[in-house]
Amino acid sequence: MAAAFAVDPDVTRARTLPSAFYLDPAIHLQTRERVFARTWQWLGGLGDVDRPGSLSPREMLPGHLDEPLLLARDAAGELRCLSNVCTHRGNILVRGPCRAEQIRCSYHSRRFDLGGRMTFMPGFEQAEDFPGASDHLPRVAMTEFAGQAFASLAPAAPFEAFFGDIGARLAWLPFDSLRHDPARDRDFEVAAHWALYVENYLEGLHIPFLHPALNQVLDMERYHYHLGRYASLQLALARDGDAAFELPAGSPDHGQRVAAYYWWVFPNLMLNFYPWGLSLNVVQPLAPDRTRVAFRAWVLDAGRLGSGAGAELDQVEREDEEAVESVQRGLRSRLYRSGRYSPSHEHGVHHFHRLLCEFLAEPAVGT
Ligand code: FES
Ligand SMILES: [Fe+2]
Repeated sequence: MAAAFAVDPDVTRARTLPSAFYLDPAIHLQTRERVFARTWQWLGGLGDVDRPGSLSPREMLPGHLDEPLLLARDAAGELRCLSNVCTHRGNILVRGPCRAEQIRCSYHSRRFDLGGRMTFMPGFEQAEDFPGASDHLPRVAMTEFAGQAFASLAPAAPFEAFFGDIGARLAWLPFDSLRHDPARDRDFEVAAHWALYVENYLEGLHIPFLHPALNQVLDMERYHYHLGRYASLQLALARDGDAAFELPAGSPDHGQRVAAYYWWVFPNLMLNFYPWGLSLNVVQPLAPDRTRVAFRAWVLDAGRLGSGAGAELDQVEREDEEAVESVQRGLRSRLYRSGRYSPSHEHGVHHFHRLLCEFLAEPAVGT
């Protein structure tokens, strides 16, 4: 039985999701199949599959979906995302990045071409209707954006519906010049439900109280929220004299001193663009009360690192973690059930909760 949640469409009247959503292990599993399996998930960079004949195994959303996938670029240069599970008895096919002319299962030697078609299988001479469609490797929807791969097992909507607003608003940004800086990569573990981490990200209401240093460089009087269908933007303007983008005339934000574009894509991805570059955060649920957040950074202008809204990310992260861990403990209270939204600062949280209700009401993948 699927849990049903409802959040009033009118933010001025609505109540937040009940604490049961965050505490119930059955709801956590339902969310995995109904939300995470139907949205676009980050698979990492494409550096090791840039040449024809390259294979790179990827785990989709490690710790939660754990779907074994395989990026394969065929001899003609076409890149596909395939299942990395052998269609015979389920062995994992490719264990590490490599170059090959075919994919060969190490268990009973079934072979596939780099497009996923089964080409050879010993011992099956007498099998009827073999090979059939189910003997080829399933192909998974995949798109490249900002040099990164994103895939979805059963997309509720096309990639564009989730990411289109970002590309359109930042069309001027030289995405090809972003350089990964591994020294800035971090993985944080937080003792809280993944949605609490996301909600905290989606509102600026807490900034003056929780992040005094960040509050010094952002102009909270001019902090804007833009809600899309499956994504939202928090546009933070710089205080006078603090680091801001130099926006070209073609930008819809030209003439404003933008300190940061905080984009969130439903359900668990954040793309934070600062004048120095991009900080990507992927929220990875591990258990109902345990979450890992992967931070990855790409630098555009190294000279601007260390200034403005994108300067003290580790400090801000610690302050946020402390808050969401405290909320996690509070939600276990018998005396708390749900709260209300700030109509001026929490409509992003409301939008997120409405999407969760929408997805939880849909059938899961494979049912
Ligand atoms: S599991 Fe792959 S050939 Fe048997
Ligand atoms: Fe925060």
